[in-house]
Amino acid sequence: MAARGGFSNKLGFIAAAAGSAVGLGNIWQFPYVTGQNGGAAFLLVYIGWIFLIGLPVMVGEIAVGRNAQSNPYGAYKKLGGKSWAYVGLFGIICGVMILSFYNVVAGWAFGYFLELSFGNLLNEQDYSGFFSAYVADFRDNLFFSIAFMVITAYIVYRGVQKGIEGTSKVLMPTLFLILIFIIIYGLTLPNAMDGVSFYLLPDFSLINGRTIYTALGQAFFSLSLGMGALITYGSYISRNDNIVNSAILVTIADTAVAFLAGLMIFPLVFSQGQSPAEGPGLVFVALLGVFQTMGPLIGKIVGGGFFLLLCFAALTSTISLLEVPVAFLVDEKKWSRKKAVSAMALLIFLIGLPSMLGFGAVGAFTEFVSYEGGVKSFMDLVQDLFFVISLPLGGFLLSVFISTKWKTAGLSEEISHGNPSYKGSFLEKFFNLMIVYVCPVVLGAMFLLTVLQKFFGVELI
Ligand code: TRP
Repeated sequence: MAARGGFSNKLGFIAAAAGSAVGLGNIWQFPYVTGQNGGAAFLLVYIGWIFLIGLPVMVGEIAVGRNAQSNPYGAYKKLGGKSWAYVGLFGIICGVMILSFYNVVAGWAFGYFLELSFGNLLNEQDYSGFFSAYVADFRDNLFFSIAFMVITAYIVYRGVQKGIEGTSKVLMPTLFLILIFIIIYGLTLPNAMDGVSFYLLPDFSLINGRTIYTALGQAFFSLSLGMGALITYGSYISRNDNIVNSAILVTIADTAVAFLAGLMIFPLVFSQGQSPAEGPGLVFVALLGVFQTMGPLIGKIVGGGFFLLLCFAALTSTISLLEVPVAFLVDEKKWSRKKAVSAMALLIFLIGLPSMLGFGAVGAFTEFVSYEGGVKSFMDLVQDLFFVISLPLGGFLLSVFISTKWKTAGLSEEISHGNPSYKGSFLEKFFNLMIVYVCPVVLGAMFLLTVLQKFFGVELI
């Protein structure tokens, strides 16, 4: 244990796990996906999935990690044998691939922060054109994504307690304060209340198969589930900690930040009469126009604050993604942390290059393959293979693993350390029911639907 490192206490784990969960998924993706899928109605479905599917899978991952005291590969191997170990290994590969493109987007956020706070970004005329040119400019991207990866690597190199925990404990509260500050400012703007009603008054006629499906994918990604990030973090906590309490707090923190990100963004967007259904450009295009109207000083403060927040959120997630393959190399191959971090950061950066160059810089990566009725970039493909398809698959396999191999008795036994009243409680029945029946069915169906739809042209929803 001492050699692997560990969190100093329960709070350290909660900060780090919430840091992993709170990321671009909450602040960049959640608001635009909500905007495209009808606002409040989507939010309700999302919250339902978070507690029905997300929380049980999270508890399962943490329990597996703590019991095995190992990275996902080692954990599955220890509790399930050689063939299950491949499931863990696949999760680690997904982490590597997710980080390869996640770091590119984090680099954009970092670049926007610097350009806005210290450059001339607020004087631009056409933010949509600026964004397209920005992501296609390979020099800027190279610089910012290297910078982001180096910072991530340095924190992971410093270790679980000093690096990951220490950083999360500072960044998470700061992020929260910036968020609250921008929300309050946004609510004072004209027409802000239109944004609030769009966001908070549900129109249930907007709920359909697509909304339900999209909300589940979003919930899963946002909670960092399905590839073993929480198995890894779970392996760093003490037997005396209450896993269920910690998981509930992490879930609430993640959901609260996603919710507040919407409450920050929609009033800003509506105050300028922009469309909430703008898509991925919502943050990088629509919001810029809003910051511009605030005037140079306030624009720099609020806009700079916003992109700083985005960077902090991304950073606590990139460190969790990097920690997974690093833990694997340290545990299984006995590499030093320094060697594991340097090798992995470099490898992941290289794998990310085609993603980075696939926004116009290099034609072959921009129009890389074609499926699902359209031309896709390299990054689209990596996203589809390693996150859209694989995270539900990973969650499905985890629940099947717990139900058939480790058994719910193993799960209950592990959770009851640090939580003596767990056995026989309502929560135990709820988690077992979800893990054994509901999660495999729902996540298995989601996996199949996605594969059929993306690669076999079947339109089921
Ligand atoms: N949850 C993060 C977000 O919302 C992304 C993330 C970090 C992640 N670690 C993960 C996603 C592990 C899946 C698995 O941005």
